[in-house]
Amino acid sequence: MDIREYMSEHRERMLNELLELLRIPSISADAAYASDTHKCAEVVANHLRNAGADNVEVVATEGYPVVYGEKMVDVSLPTVLVYGHYDVQPADPIDLWDSPAFEPVIKKTELHPEGAIFARGACDDKGQFFMHVKAFEAMVATNQVPCNIKFMIEGEEEVGSVHLEDFLEAHKERLSADVVLVSDTGVIANDVPSITTGLRGLSYVEVEVTGPNRDLHSGLYGGAAPNPINILCEMIASLKDENQQITVAGFYDDVEELSAEEREAMAEAPFSEEAYKKSIDIGAVEGESGYSIPERMSIRPTLDVNGIWGGYTGEGAKTVIASKAYAKISMRLVPHQNPEDITAKFEAHFKKIAPDSVKIKVSPMHGGQPAVTPTESPSYLAASAAMEATFGKVPVPVRSGGSIPIVSSFERILGLKTVLMGFGLDSDAIHSPNEHYGLFNYFKGIETIPHFHAEFAKRHG
Ligand code: BES
Ligand code: MN
Ligand code: MN
Repeated sequence: MDIREYMSEHRERMLNELLELLRIPSISADAAYASDTHKCAEVVANHLRNAGADNVEVVATEGYPVVYGEKMVDVSLPTVLVYGHYDVQPADPIDLWDSPAFEPVIKKTELHPEGAIFARGACDDKGQFFMHVKAFEAMVATNQVPCNIKFMIEGEEEVGSVHLEDFLEAHKERLSADVVLVSDTGVIANDVPSITTGLRGLSYVEVEVTGPNRDLHSGLYGGAAPNPINILCEMIASLKDENQQITVAGFYDDVEELSAEEREAMAEAPFSEEAYKKSIDIGAVEGESGYSIPERMSIRPTLDVNGIWGGYTGEGAKTVIASKAYAKISMRLVPHQNPEDITAKFEAHFKKIAPDSVKIKVSPMHGGQPAVTPTESPSYLAASAAMEATFGKVPVPVRSGGSIPIVSSFERILGLKTVLMGFGLDSDAIHSPNEHYGLFNYFKGIETIPHFHAEFAKRHG
């Protein structure tokens, strides 16, 4: 039987199985969901077994387990290692969801006229890694597995994949392959296919500013006592200059400057400023002068406050000067910035600009290396040919602003390049309320993946 015929015959079930998977609240960041997250790993393992994978195992780590499975058809054929993650972001703020985050519903939207699945994890990444499980099932069932395929689906991506490097080190042999294939990114639009060729890195810190040793009456002490919230705001404001460049000393030292040709090639990818502004309902775009909006969001580093708190935030007014103020700050990094180096530079700078009236504590959280993937490799060309076959258009290479820290570890530890063949849309609201994934995208992915394996098997020397 033809793979496409198999897919259309089993379409309904392939959808219902994803909906069931989306009902499991596998939130890695919140210990209250630990048993659901472990259960999710078991469910994924069963899907792999049923799809025809061998040696399926839920491999324990210091954190949540990694689900492994493989189909070795012939050791002389190339091997593709499929990576994805079964953990999801927390659903909050839950009040802003139009339907419960773990009760998937299908609704039509402007960009998804055929309908989209609304649920946490629909696009990031359950809907996307599950396309690989279903495509694999179809390949096995129709006896058309053109290369060896290994699966490695982890459960801690959303909390920085902290135990995954150890896993790679410990299972080098088992994970040996020729390329890593990941669907955890997106396309420009459903009629503008693209392949992600770069990811930003990340340095993430929490800062604590301590003023007086206790909360004070803002009348009795106000005017002379240092207010850590005011001071934190001033310090944060000074982290960018009038051109919106980051002022942390040495921050840009290692930033890779793209050639004029590379920037011209980037400018070819369609982008509408008006549509962008409309999509998030803003009056104007912000950012570093001298760079286009897509450049600001991909090849340039950023510094953003992700959260800020301190003092009294309850109902009514309380006249108080708080003892402490806090902020969480993320810096997205580009090649060849190093997360540890940037974190150290941030800490030194932040302490240096603090007035004598306060004490500063900087706590590094997780980080991640940036990554760029080749565009002339057999694996890129295989992904390009696969998407061309199913979308009817040659995909454009685009650098993304997001981060998948393990991609650089695949290269460093396993010596493997990665292909980022994702099918989501930026507007699918990943990490936000009402996350969704288009039915078009889900089934287009399932249809495209077998082409990738066939094209890769054909090209790999
Ligand atoms: N799948 C996303 C990353 C992504 C999405 C890259 C869309 C490109 C396009 C991933 O699950 C994610 O959210 N990564 C985190 C990093 C992590 C260290 C928490 C991120 O980018 O914030
Ligand atoms: Mn993801
Ligand atoms: Mn994510």
